[in-house]
Amino acid sequence: MKDASPQTIYLKDYTPFGWQVADVHLTVALAPNATRVKSRIHFVPNPNAPEQEFFLHGEELNLIRAAIDGEEVAPEITPQGLRCKVPSGPFLWESEVEIAPAENFALEGLYMSNGMYCTQCEAEGFRKITYYPDRPDVMATFTVRIEGDEKVKLSNGNPTDSGEGWAEWHDPWPKPAYLFALVAGDLVNHPGEFTTRSGKTVELNIWVRPGDEDKCAFGMEALKASMKWDEEVYGREYDLDIFNIVAVDDFNMGAMENKGLNIFNSSCVLASPETSTDANFERIEAIIAHEYFHNWTGNRITCRDWFQLCLKEGLTVFRDSQFTSDMRSAEVKRISDVIDLRARQFPEDQGPLSHPVRPESFQEINNFYTATVYEKGAEVIGMLKRLVGDEDYAKALDLYFERHDGDAATIEDWLKVFEDATGRDLAQFKRWYSQSGTPHLSVTEDHADGVYTLTFKQHTPPTPGQSEKAPQVLPIAVGLLNPNGDEVVPTTVLEMTEAEQSFSFDGLSSKPVPSILRGFSAPVVLERETAPEEKRFLLAHDTDAFNRWEASRDLARACLYAMITEGAGPDTAWIDALEQVVRDADLDPAFRALMLSLPTQSELVQMLHARGVTPDPDAIYAATEALKNAMAERWSALLPALREESAVTAAYSPDAEQSGKRALGNAVLALQTRLDGGKAAQAQYDAADNMTMQLSALSCLISAGAEETALAAFEAQWKDDRLVMDKWFALQVAATAPENAATRAGALTERADFDWKNPNRFRAVMGSLAMNHAGFHAKDGSGYKLLADWLIRLDEKNPQTTARMCSVFQTWKRYDTQRQALMQAELERIAAKPGLSRDVTEMVTRLLS
Ligand code: ARG
Ligand code: ZN
Repeated sequence: MKDASPQTIYLKDYTPFGWQVADVHLTVALAPNATRVKSRIHFVPNPNAPEQEFFLHGEELNLIRAAIDGEEVAPEITPQGLRCKVPSGPFLWESEVEIAPAENFALEGLYMSNGMYCTQCEAEGFRKITYYPDRPDVMATFTVRIEGDEKVKLSNGNPTDSGEGWAEWHDPWPKPAYLFALVAGDLVNHPGEFTTRSGKTVELNIWVRPGDEDKCAFGMEALKASMKWDEEVYGREYDLDIFNIVAVDDFNMGAMENKGLNIFNSSCVLASPETSTDANFERIEAIIAHEYFHNWTGNRITCRDWFQLCLKEGLTVFRDSQFTSDMRSAEVKRISDVIDLRARQFPEDQGPLSHPVRPESFQEINNFYTATVYEKGAEVIGMLKRLVGDEDYAKALDLYFERHDGDAATIEDWLKVFEDATGRDLAQFKRWYSQSGTPHLSVTEDHADGVYTLTFKQHTPPTPGQSEKAPQVLPIAVGLLNPNGDEVVPTTVLEMTEAEQSFSFDGLSSKPVPSILRGFSAPVVLERETAPEEKRFLLAHDTDAFNRWEASRDLARACLYAMITEGAGPDTAWIDALEQVVRDADLDPAFRALMLSLPTQSELVQMLHARGVTPDPDAIYAATEALKNAMAERWSALLPALREESAVTAAYSPDAEQSGKRALGNAVLALQTRLDGGKAAQAQYDAADNMTMQLSALSCLISAGAEETALAAFEAQWKDDRLVMDKWFALQVAATAPENAATRAGALTERADFDWKNPNRFRAVMGSLAMNHAGFHAKDGSGYKLLADWLIRLDEKNPQTTARMCSVFQTWKRYDTQRQALMQAELERIAAKPGLSRDVTEMVTRLLS
């Protein structure tokens, strides 16, 4: 029985479990509709816990038998688990349950994907496998015996023994149940090997379905690079004899860091030049690193409770972004991360779903695997590092690993390590974990008698449950430039702690031009009205790549604002200033490609909303189109030369250098298409020998309405490749004109290969619809209705993916009354669905509140 009654869990109510688990023995006899799971668990009373009744989590389990110290018992079964009378001392708990993995479409617990068995236990999926204290602070060693005819049978830790129809694994590292994993199927492996710095050889494998073997080489290299990087940069070595990765087609999220047995959404590990874009390669490299890095930040040191999720996720995202910066371009990575933060985390933090990096309550923890916990959580660590400096950061991390290895830790533990290692008081800094919302930072300047003064004011608008906000600690990286373009004050980190605070620089005879918030040194909204001349000056001269990019972004935002609200024409002075950067062959092509990207529609909605203007999606779309057309026309002579310059003649490699060139060339192609109706794009499509070139050409053809031939050719070429067909589905909805988006998405859902129970395919269509801003927000409500229809349908099968997708409605109150009414009606229709899951109930309740 599934429990849907909403029950709120609070951080303040944390109590340790009354028992410790010495060890766990599981025997799993696989069968699609009747898998039997036997457990043998030694419980020992926990001296540090208050007295409590013995309760084990368990959901949708069919209990066959239970025994204590060999005697059968009859526990009381509830929708959440079981209660039982137990001896006062240590005892042996045994149980046997039956489950049906073939019927599990929620993709949580033990389920089947294309004939293979696999698991997803984070956050609370282990309770769907057997009765257990399914909480991260209960850690135990696991011995697992898997019985079944499948050729390959894997679990955590090291393989210990196997025979005809069975295999046994033992994980010597005590772990919480959310890190448990089991995989069984007729899989093939791509093998590898890594020698750790202390000389231990580790066997590596990427396990895939037959036919996918040729898409593993890149992931394997990324894994080895991650292992090496974690040794060199964090001093962390791998701690088992074997490390397995498995690719699974049906997966709710990106990947999962189960001890020694990482399970990946196949889209996040399989790669080949023909089937994957440069962006795919970069993402795969980052996710492999992320999951691998969890071995220390997540597994060896885990979370005491789920409120501490950012302890492992914020830190691990921060670590994987450092890794990508080291492997590729740090500047390009930083700009990309900020684009992503503003597109996903800022709207979350400024709407009804806003929550602190460490939330204080939840109903369904899966709803808190958010951009705030992950990406803002990583920003907070970046700020901490900026404040204490690289050396002290390294000292604090060493202390963290030394002090907390083997622990289920808290944010308090984490901050204490920094306080002890650096002597700093982090009481105020801790607000970053408890206070939600995005701070707004404004600044005024003054120059007199050779002294230049910057005065900052910070203010955080109220968020749900938090009407009063206290000042945050803000590291503000500032540099000062002379009017001639020379840097007179190199990057300096100002530490702002007050609501209003001034910082002075002396010895400056002429008034400098400030470059503020370099590298986006704090996740805030910077409000600063400056003359366009000053921004163009920074665009031309700033030594900080991020702020150079930001200066242009500011000008683009201002230009689009004037076009949207005043019907102004494009800002040609900005376009000309931008041209100087874009054509500068000394600059990294990847950086130049980012310079060409315009603010996302979501970013423009935020800007308009912040200035008290109700965003009109059609007007935003029209202005963006007009601006792109103007850029294309103004640069008509430059574009062919840029494409020629960015052409890659060497054999394909997904490295930073080549992919940067392709990014620039394809950004230019999109502009060219506006002039030639798709001629250049068709030529590129016909000549393409890798997915990056093929897909961007197809995207241009769709935008130009000239896709018919290419779309059919693409389908004929790739119809048997699920991951490539996901792109085909997604692109048609994402790149089509807004007036066709909902119709096109609707038509795609009618196709036999719209396998909506597969989260990748569902997201390809529905996620892309939500991304087609003006299309999703079509005035007649057709976009809203189509999505709501499908969310209602999917919730019966897969609450987690449905709930995640509900967040596309999070900005609903920003729009005009007509659109608001339409969205509200759809949210209420979802809310009224009988039997709605706990996941979606919580989401729509928060959205409507
Ligand atoms: N810990 C995983 C990662 O970020 C995410 C798994 C979350 N899964 C879930 N169902 N909430 O690497
Ligand atoms: Zn993670």
